[in-house]
Amino acid sequence: WIVLSHLEKESKEYGDIIQMDFVDSYHNLTIKTMMIMNWMATYCQGAWYAMKIDADIFLNVRYLVDYLHDQSESSRKDFITGSVISDAVPHRDSFNKWYISEDLYPDSWYPPYVSGAAYVFSTDLARKISWASRFVRPIPLEDVYVGLCLHVLGVKPVYATTFLGFRNLFEVRRLKYERCTFAKRIIANGFNPQNLLRIWHDFQKSYFTC
Ligand SMILES: *[C@@H]1O[C@H](CO)[C@@H](O)[C@H](O)[C@H]1NC(C)=O
Repeated sequence: WIVLSHLEKESKEYGDIIQMDFVDSYHNLTIKTMMIMNWMATYCQGAWYAMKIDADIFLNVRYLVDYLHDQSESSRKDFITGSVISDAVPHRDSFNKWYISEDLYPDSWYPPYVSGAAYVFSTDLARKISWASRFVRPIPLEDVYVGLCLHVLGVKPVYATTFLGFRNLFEVRRLKYERCTFAKRIIANGFNPQNLLRIWHDFQKSYFTC
């Protein structure tokens, strides 16, 4: 769906695309994420937070910014938030999308990790995760891999919910679009680019109507 000439046009106009030297496949997501962490550690130390988000995810920027403003100052270090998965185990069935062999990952549990659909972290973690990755054997599951690095660092991912924990702000299930429902989430899952654009236009009205 993404046309090469569109990418070139975007890059020329805004200079906001970074290209790295590897094959960009599902299996290589961990490589991509670690390259992002390295790049961030080198060039983005002026920012407090960074976000990793998939291309098919709806993002409510205003809510995200408000949410981060409401965090205490301690969350500017060793902070990572999203939809936390805390009791996952490796899939050993080779037909499963998330299959992992016992050779590659012998343990029977995963440490807590944030769903790779979208997560937000304090930028100091980019350098720390890069460092920790030297002690963690690469596995093709990008979000689990980040979780393994966090485990080395002793950093626990934080579940992003509303004050009393009623609402998961990083909604990784597929959610039917509804303007005022989406106004109260940071992300929602399950949209192709055309749908995201259509939703975005309608969503602009949420500030005044929800
Ligand atoms: C992952 O990237 C490396 C380096 O570009 C490449 O050699 C390899 O074929 C890629 N693996 C997959 C499964 O795409």
